[in-house]
Amino acid sequence: MKTPVKSILRPKKPAVALKAPPVSITVTDLTMRFPVYGVDAKSLKKHLAKITVGGRLDKSTGGVTEVTALTGLNMKLKAGDRLGLIGHNGSGKTTLLRALSGAYEPDEGSIEVEGRITALLDLSLGIDPTATGIDNIRLRGRIAGLSSRDIEAKMDEIATFTGLGPFLAMPLKTYSAGMQARLAFAVATSVDADVLLMDEWIAVGDSQFQRIAHQRLLKLVERAGILVLASHDLDLIRLYCNKVMRLDSGVASEIVDIRKLDTLIKPPAAAE
Ligand SMILES: Nc1ncnc2c1ncn2[C@@H]1O[C@H](COP(=O)(O)OP(=O)(O)O)[C@@H](O)[C@H]1O
Ligand SMILES: [Mg+2]
Repeated sequence: MKTPVKSILRPKKPAVALKAPPVSITVTDLTMRFPVYGVDAKSLKKHLAKITVGGRLDKSTGGVTEVTALTGLNMKLKAGDRLGLIGHNGSGKTTLLRALSGAYEPDEGSIEVEGRITALLDLSLGIDPTATGIDNIRLRGRIAGLSSRDIEAKMDEIATFTGLGPFLAMPLKTYSAGMQARLAFAVATSVDADVLLMDEWIAVGDSQFQRIAHQRLLKLVERAGILVLASHDLDLIRLYCNKVMRLDSGVASEIVDIRKLDTLIKPPAAAE
């Protein structure tokens, strides 16, 4: 049958949307500051003339020192971007992740995120030490945006993944850090996320857990539209990310392709 000319000129709209909903992150001129009370920045600076660690310390006024954790940061991410964040301790990685998750309001600038966010940031967030492991799965599930029904439907799978067995009936305060990490990780990774934010605590847990966590994470990363992962572990960054950005005292480098990771790593300063 000949196709009518009209339909060639004007492509028909598909009956069902074929494209996934848009996923994006746009950060414009983001500045984040923390006031610290009862500290004299001048005396601190004297001792720390050559600091590479931490954000920028600004003048103290009336006993308040400001730490500028992020300065005028701009970035744009789209579906398929898996960004590794590198930088010294205190360079602003966690602050950026928290701001992206909505936990912090920008002091200046703006953040727009399209898509459902899952953040694997604070291990202790939403943990009730007196409640059982099972109840903490429910609690964290609610915080992660799951409905009670979703949680109960996923409960078996989550409980099995934690590997905690009978310990799930015990109060969380009896758990080691690694056991808590298993529980938190199991819940957070059971959510279908468009945007996945991860801080380096993922390295918690024993090697057996790391292996199964890795499998689960790969699946999640495949599903997620955008990943932002902060880590000191460059191998981990290479494994999960296709782009990388470096923070230095809150100032961001350009985002470069993962194959150019080496260009962001400065040679160690000559001994003085
Ligand atoms: N709640 C806070 N109060 C005061 N200063 C903070 C707070 N959180 C972070 N900072 C400061 O902000 C800077 C960046 O910290 P952070 O984002 O945790 O760095 P990173 O995750 O790269 O190690 C550091 O100088 C840190 O001391
Ligand atoms: Mg950090």
